[in-house]
This record gives sequence, structure tokens and C-alpha cells, in this order.
Amino acid sequence: MLADLVKRSQPLASDAKLLVLGGGYSGRCLASLARAMGTPVLCTRRSLDSDEADLLFDSAGEGHLDPDALQGVTHLVCTIPPDREGNDPVLSKLLGTLRSLPLRWAGYLSTTGIYGDRQGGWVSEQDDPAPELDRSIRRLNCEQAWLHSGLPIQILRLPGIYGPGRSVLNGLQQGRARLIEKPGQVFCRIHVEDIAGACWHLMHRAEQAPDPSMDNWTVVNVVDDLPAPTTDLLRHAAGLLGCDLPPLEQFDQIVESMSPMAQTFWSENRRVSNHRLCQELGYGLLHPNYRVGLQDCLDQDKLNPTDLRSPPRSTNG
Ligand SMILES: NC(=O)c1ccc[n+]([C@@H]2O[C@H](COP(=O)([O-])OP(=O)(O)OC[C@H]3O[C@@H](n4cnc5c(N)ncnc54)[C@H](OP(=O)(O)O)[C@@H]3O)[C@@H](O)[C@H]2O)c1
Repeated sequence: MLADLVKRSQPLASDAKLLVLGGGYSGRCLASLARAMGTPVLCTRRSLDSDEADLLFDSAGEGHLDPDALQGVTHLVCTIPPDREGNDPVLSKLLGTLRSLPLRWAGYLSTTGIYGDRQGGWVSEQDDPAPELDRSIRRLNCEQAWLHSGLPIQILRLPGIYGPGRSVLNGLQQGRARLIEKPGQVFCRIHVEDIAGACWHLMHRAEQAPDPSMDNWTVVNVVDDLPAPTTDLLRHAAGLLGCDLPPLEQFDQIVESMSPMAQTFWSENRRVSNHRLCQELGYGLLHPNYRVGLQDCLDQDKLNPTDLRSPPRSTNG
């Protein structure tokens, strides 16, 4: 729960001000943490009618942010994905504006998809990216653009995101979940509160001690401790809900009938290490595995059942 994250987080300097470019699922969780920690925050969304929309930014529209509205911004996090051509919508439209800010830290949310398929093996930030899917190639292109932006950037590579209103619990409750078995296949995941917590931890760390060895840490995997098959999660989730599981299906027998998107999702198999985040950089996961994380989702979904109406997004948490 956010309250637990707040308890374990340290405040930023009193003059800090956060800009969240893309106040979607992860962006709004981070914004809530920042507000609870007493740091002013501005969230962009593509419509000012959306929840917590402080500023309008749509790269497909005017693609402009008034520099006056951004005065004093010291930290930023970008959650906005690449455009169809693989360009970064924020850097294409706003780089000059961002360069004019007194930024101390900038975080870019990327994906672990840039590692490509590792046939179930472990992969860390020291391994070279090897993206195979078009969307991962586009993402790596954007990472490179952020790394060369001249901003004080740290790249956070994320696996499947889950959390309240967006977990296998909701899939089971809504009759969408499929129990698919593929021997040897695992997926990595991260609870949305640990994305917010990790961003905050990295901002705080950079503020405390701009570290000369920081260059070694420009890229950080933000994943939990336990890569696992989705069947494990579904069985655990069904136990928590006290409901029946969908029928077991064998991957080989249904792969041809899957959507192209679902096929790409199952085409890569890797275990992503969080050693850098948790050991070298000292972040303690609030939800170190799906068992802890799903219990939290169950508790929060009960408190806030409206979340259950959120559209399904992640399929592996
Ligand atoms: N979902 C996953 O499992 C997963 C896994 C790994 C990495 N990621 C990546 O991690 C990041 C955060 O994920 P999330 O699930 O929190 O994302 P999300 O909820 O989809 O939020 C994305 C944000 O980007 C904004 N946005 C999208 N296109 C835009 C454009 N052309 N111009 C301006 N703003 C735009 C959206 O605006 P609105 O608020 O107006 O919609 C939204 O605020 C994303 O880049 C995502 O691709 C996701």
C-alpha cells in the first residue's frame, strides 16, 4: 500500500519539484507518492479531463508545454512509450524545454524487452541488449536518445507491470484469465508501487550523493525477486479468491490460435536480475514476489473496487 511506501521513503530536498511526463498507471502512482512525501508534482496527460491531469501534453497534438508552467522542476520521470517510428515523443517535442530546467535527475521508464530472448537464462544490465521484437527495437532506440540527451538520466527497465486493478486477480474475476502451460517458460514482473518506490529511491540517492560511479548505474532493472510461470500466479490467485481455475491449456496446442501480440509475448523467456537495484543501489522491494504483491492487490481492490473497472493491461502479473 502507498502508506507503506511513504513510511519507508526519505523526503527529497525542500525545493524539489517533480514532473511526471505521462500520468498513466505508473506515473500516477509515483505522483501520489511524491504528494504524500510533500514534494510538489505536475502530471501531464493527453486530456485535461483525465484524472490528475495538471498539464496537457500530447505529442500527436500541439506537442508543446509552456516553460513557465515548468519553472523550478528539478526531477522528472517519463513514462511515455516510443512512437510508431521508434522516436521518443518527449525528446522530439520537448528536449529544448527540458534542457532549460534545473534538473537534478531524470528517469526514463523502459522495458526489459530490450534483452530479447535468453531461453530462460538470467540477464543483467551488464549484458548487451539484443532486442528481437519491433517494439523492443523501438524502445532501445528511445533509450539511446535519452542517454544522449545531455540530461542527468537514469534508465529504468521494467518487466510486466501489475498492481491494484491490474493483476491476474482481476483477470480471474472477469473471466479473462487463461491457464496456459509452456514447460520452462517464466515471466518477470514488478508491482506498480515498487516502480514508484524505485524511482523515488534513485532520485533521493542522486540528491544525497551525486556519485562519481553513477555512470555505472545509468541503467537499472526494476524487477521483483521471483521470475515465475503464469500458471503459478493463477493458481495462487485462485487460492486467494477461493475461485475455480480456467481449464489447463497446453501452449503448443493453442499457439496457432493466439493473436500475433500474444505470440510475441510468449516468444521470449528470460530471468532478469535485480541485483543492481537491490544490492548495489540498496532498494528494498515492497513486494518482492507475486505472493506478497497479489495479497496487496486483493487488499487494495477490496478497498477500492472501482479499480476493477480499469481496462486490462498487463497479462503477466
Ligand atoms: N504495462 C506493462 O506491463 C509494461 C511493461 C514494461 C514497460 N512498460 C512501459 O512502462 C511505461 C509505463 O507503463 P504504464 O503501464 O504505467 O503506462 P500507461 O499507463 O499506458 O501510461 C503511459 C502514459 O503515456 C502517455 N502517453 C502515451 N502516448 C502519448 C503521447 N503520444 N503523447 C503524450 N503522452 C502520451 C499516456 O497519456 P494518458 O494518461 O493521457 O493516457 C499515459 O499517461 C510505458 O512506457 C510502458 O510502455 C509497460
